[in-house]
Amino acid sequence: MRSLIDIIDFTTEELDALIRTAVDIDADPAKYAECCKGKKIATLFYEPSTRTRLSFEAAMLELGGSVIGFSGAGNSSASKGESVADTAKVISCYADIIAMRHNLEGAPLVAALNASIPVINAGDGSHCHPTQTLADLLTIYREKGRLDHLTVGYCGDLKYGRTVHSLINALSRYEGIETVLISPDELKLPDYVKKDVLEKKGLPYEETTDFEAALPKLDILYMTRVQRERFDDLAVYERVKDSFILTQEKLDLAKPDTAVLHPLPRVNEIAVGIDEDPRACYFKQVYNGKLMRMALILKLLGEAQEDRANVRKAEIQAVCRTKAGRTCPNPKCICHTEQELPAYFRNLGGVDRCLWCDSEM
Ligand code: CP
Repeated sequence: MRSLIDIIDFTTEELDALIRTAVDIDADPAKYAECCKGKKIATLFYEPSTRTRLSFEAAMLELGGSVIGFSGAGNSSASKGESVADTAKVISCYADIIAMRHNLEGAPLVAALNASIPVINAGDGSHCHPTQTLADLLTIYREKGRLDHLTVGYCGDLKYGRTVHSLINALSRYEGIETVLISPDELKLPDYVKKDVLEKKGLPYEETTDFEAALPKLDILYMTRVQRERFDDLAVYERVKDSFILTQEKLDLAKPDTAVLHPLPRVNEIAVGIDEDPRACYFKQVYNGKLMRMALILKLLGEAQEDRANVRKAEIQAVCRTKAGRTCPNPKCICHTEQELPAYFRNLGGVDRCLWCDSEM
């Protein structure tokens, strides 16, 4: 069964096709208004969300389908100890497709391996957020007319910001992308993105703490919130939380056509006055996210007609190994809470990484 767990699950051609569908939906919504009649999406959100959950629900309703789900682990039988695997099997009896957000990294992959319906990762811990990336790609495409030959600056929390990890991965597959990583030392991009994506592909990137110096180079400025909820030590959060704030004075250092993106929610990292600047694209991103989720639902439900059952399991078994006694060092990995989940790892660029969360083992 085809799912979307990581943005690399889709080829560049598939991403481009989703963009074409989303643009067509926007141009002629009536054409799609009954495409999912009789279909249900289950939104299983173990963590808070405004945009992702409600845009999935709006997307399915606008396609003529309906919605079930929960918006907090406390409202579900997870609070009684039910596993992600069992939940996925149960929901497969009620719905046609699942969108899952979870605090534990790898949880949507566990769901995909146990569900008999497609599963969409709606954000797993600090790991990935592929449907936010779909929204980002459509926004960049609409603002710039292309997804290649761009200088993209990421600013803020590059360690815990899962949207950054997924977008870097997606854009790494287009020609001529230059990456500028602007963060405090405590919030640098994790190695599984830096080494396994940027360095492995030989893509140019620089790391800096000098926001003002970086700004004039950028075609895209991708701001992120410092993710308070991911810090083990809140003293570190307090130290870094105001490191980079985009004010009008700073934005005036950027090009006249630099597109400013932010996955939202915003705390204080973009001054509210910038919302009126024509370069501010973050509310357009929200709208684009709904269109791309509509396109994604159509694609996955379309492919669910095909018999792809167990293909993913077989693919995983082909590339992964297990080793007795070997465990993932990431305490936030799903493998520590889910019963009988093997300590699968795969070798990426000479480094053994956990299958579920990509941590170095
Ligand atoms: N961008 C995003 O994921 O927002 P929510 O957390 O509100 O879903």
